[in-house]
Amino acid sequence: MAMIEVKNVTKQFGDLTVLDNFSVDFDHSGVTVLIGPSGTGKSTLLRCINGLEKIDEGDILVDGLSVNNKKNLKQIRKTCGMVFQQTVIFPHMNVLDNLTMSPIKLLRMSKAEAEDKARYYLDKVGLASKEKSRHNELSGGEQQRIAIARALMMSPEALLLDEITSALDPEMTREVLNILVNLAKEGVCMLCVTHEMSFAKEVASRILFMEGGKLVCDVSKDDFFGSVREENERINKFLSFIGE
Ligand SMILES: Nc1ncnc2c1ncn2[C@@H]1O[C@H](COP(=O)(O)OP(=O)(O)OP(=O)(O)O)[C@@H](O)[C@H]1O
Ligand SMILES: [Mg+2]
Repeated sequence: MAMIEVKNVTKQFGDLTVLDNFSVDFDHSGVTVLIGPSGTGKSTLLRCINGLEKIDEGDILVDGLSVNNKKNLKQIRKTCGMVFQQTVIFPHMNVLDNLTMSPIKLLRMSKAEAEDKARYYLDKVGLASKEKSRHNELSGGEQQRIAIARALMMSPEALLLDEITSALDPEMTREVLNILVNLAKEGVCMLCVTHEMSFAKEVASRILFMEGGKLVCDVSKDDFFGSVREENERINKFLSFIGE
């Protein structure tokens, strides 16, 4: 069974059909990069998988649990950790408390265990020295790295990442992508919306191209940057447009 099964999903905002009878499956491993023009439904798809948007038709199963049943949402969000473009870490708490809050509250982890785990992940994202810092004392790149660590604290089976580097300068982008590259090497399953094609080339196993609420292409990375790019004028144009 796939970890995430998106089955004939339609999502509308008023008259606008954002996901149009959309189906796709994701396994328990590998990095999938989702690309496509602006307004095409990429963020909406991730938000629907995590139960942050209600779908109008179809179903999404995460480890067999349907997003259409409200009772499943807590478990679904534990299975799929999500990080957004500009993730807000809670301003009234220091970094350590930001990381330990959910595991203590939702997983009933002891404070000591949660703090050990938080320090482990802070070290992983290169921010061991920042555990007492607050939101306004951190750079944008550092905040995103904290957000990744915070998502990992819940031991998710997959990370849903929505353009998490797009508000960062090139240096900070590289810092954050390096973290993702390392996580990918450790086998963390990721579904990433990103236009960072160097990252896609480095770690993606699969590339999805979406347009107009439909999946236009679902292929391996090698096929995408090889035959698909050569033969599909639309995709070639899009890649040229984003400077690839
Ligand atoms: N809450 C909402 N209410 C109304 N329309 C919305 C809402 N959220 C998204 N939309 C519309 O749905 C469409 C798809 O939005 P979405 O954010 O999924 O696109 P995207 O592919 O992530 O684009 P981008 O690359 O710019 O982030 C857009 O036209 C957007 O304006
Ligand atoms: Mg988006």
